[in-house]
Amino acid sequence: MSELYPAEVLINSATGAVSPATGRYAKHLSELGGIFSNADAWSRTIREENDPLIYEVLEYKQEGSDLFFGTTTMQPGKIGDEFYMTRGHFHEDRTKGEVYNTLSGQGLLLLEDRQGRSSTIEMREGSSAFIPPDWAHRSINCGPAPLVFTWFCSVAAGHDYGQILQQGMRKLVIERNGEIEVVANPKFD
Ligand code: F6R
Ligand code: ZN
Repeated sequence: MSELYPAEVLINSATGAVSPATGRYAKHLSELGGIFSNADAWSRTIREENDPLIYEVLEYKQEGSDLFFGTTTMQPGKIGDEFYMTRGHFHEDRTKGEVYNTLSGQGLLLLEDRQGRSSTIEMREGSSAFIPPDWAHRSINCGPAPLVFTWFCSVAAGHDYGQILQQGMRKLVIERNGEIEVVANPKFD
């Protein structure tokens, strides 16, 4: 095993910049096919807004460490009446949970277990969310500004995207008459 060493990592609350970062990826709208209910609005937005950036993930991980952490920075916007959101996933290792801490912006963390129980936790500056093992989680930017949060996780957790990608989540977060609403996903009726 390589040797681990103490490190200071700077995180910018407004931009989500991580310094130093050891990994990064970005998700543009065209890479998020099938997660938004309104497929016409999805393809129209890709065309008309030139495939906008939806979110970016930066991480800090030391080779051989059991823990890693990073930021997710989500842009504001909607596809039809649904707010921009992450893909959502279970962890591959069903015994591994995670912690999110919101640095700026406002959103909702949507959680769901394998028995179909749902939960939402508000994401706002200073709030931390405990994600228990084997609860799927998806973050949703419901505000007018970027939503920036840090996450802390076990390296062994892994990601399992399959089920959420195929079935969606039981709840949708939409804007209706200017209000944020959590509604049942009609796909599950
Ligand atoms: C890691 C984790 C976050 C998300 C990130 C993007 O376990 O929960 O780092 O991976 O917010 O969301 P997904 O991976 O669902 O596209
Ligand atoms: Zn996760």
